[in-house]
Amino acid sequence: MVSTDRLDQSEMPATRYEQLVQSVVDYAIYMLDPAGHVVSWNAGAERIKGYRADEIIGRHFSLFFTAPDCAEGRPELLLRQALEQGVAQDEGWRVRKDGTQFWALAALDVIRDEHGVIIGLAKVTRDITDRRESALQLDAVRAQLFQAQKLEALGQLTGGLAHDFNNLLTIILSSARLAIGSQDPARVQRLLEHILDAGQRGTQLTQQLLSFARHRQLSVTRVTPTELVESTRGLLAHALPDAIQLIERQQADLPMIEADAGQLQMVLLNLLFNARDAIEGEGCIRLEVDSVELAGEVDGLHGHFVRFIVHDTGQGIDPQVLPRIFEPFFTTKAFGKGTGLGLSQVYGFAKQSNGAISVASQLGEGTCMSLYLPVTHDTR
Ligand SMILES: Nc1ncnc2c1ncn2[C@@H]1O[C@H](COP(=O)(O)OP(=O)(O)OP(=O)(O)O)[C@@H](O)[C@H]1O
Ligand SMILES: [Mg+2]
Repeated sequence: MVSTDRLDQSEMPATRYEQLVQSVVDYAIYMLDPAGHVVSWNAGAERIKGYRADEIIGRHFSLFFTAPDCAEGRPELLLRQALEQGVAQDEGWRVRKDGTQFWALAALDVIRDEHGVIIGLAKVTRDITDRRESALQLDAVRAQLFQAQKLEALGQLTGGLAHDFNNLLTIILSSARLAIGSQDPARVQRLLEHILDAGQRGTQLTQQLLSFARHRQLSVTRVTPTELVESTRGLLAHALPDAIQLIERQQADLPMIEADAGQLQMVLLNLLFNARDAIEGEGCIRLEVDSVELAGEVDGLHGHFVRFIVHDTGQGIDPQVLPRIFEPFFTTKAFGKGTGLGLSQVYGFAKQSNGAISVASQLGEGTCMSLYLPVTHDTR
């Protein structure tokens, strides 16, 4: 509510307040009696809701709610909450006089007289339909970007996978040929085992790839970090050249996190691809997962977090470039090699998940990216 502490009331007569409230057109500001009937009406209320003062004064404020909200008893609930707690806030669809709807952000504050007796409620409503729509559009664009990035990642992965499949098929075919020509039962048995083993590895590969490709809907679930890292490693192993060594370290008994598993896998792959691209010739990538307690040192976050660290011995990041790496479309890679969207996705994901991404890099020495995601407190 508007604070009046610093205003000398004698200099600001009641009529001046009324004029002030009346002239506000961006906010509907009006009063309700304790039962919820409209008592006063300003220009903003008329503009946003479409009723003139003489049409609405005396009517119950549930008139502004949609039929389903009324059926659920939402107006009464808000009124009761405001009367009991002094204030109530709400966001949702409201109905104008002409029947059209707008997305409202509303606050209901109790007004008391000098003896503390409730004399009514102040209602302030804003029409934030535009803001809500742009937020929804942004979500849709982000989802599309993720999809586009995934296709790119799939492209990167399938090259390596095709090579591995060829190797597996070679094992299967040559073992089968040898088995057909062999009279030795023990040898036939061994060859069949080779075939079975290669077939199983092939199935595992396709399953990992399919589960990654199919995952479309944004769905937050409880994720076990160890399982996620395992399936990511399974995919990545085929996209790393032999000269790059992947070292993994995981803290025992990692707590669970709440995230969209598909997106998290995508984010880890982005960090790992960047690490791979930064290494010319021989080098090593370390993927570490542990849990940490933060007290504001990373992006002002507090609490228990799981930390995914991707460390590489690559070329490092130029201090002049560093502030820009999370920008969408910022890339230092050659045309056709990078779109510059990887880290902006990582950043968006970290923020959306109430976590953070931090970077430490030394030119010529390597880079360390740390992704923090909150531990779920739900112990179901
Ligand atoms: N591990 C790293 N080592 C060195 N530079 C890095 C590292 N990670 C990111 N960068 C720098 O940050 C830039 C932006 O990274 P980002 O992942 O957003 O895009 P990209 O890798 O260039 O393209 P894309 O990921 O879309 O294929 C990179 O072009 C690179 O200059
Ligand atoms: Mg990248």
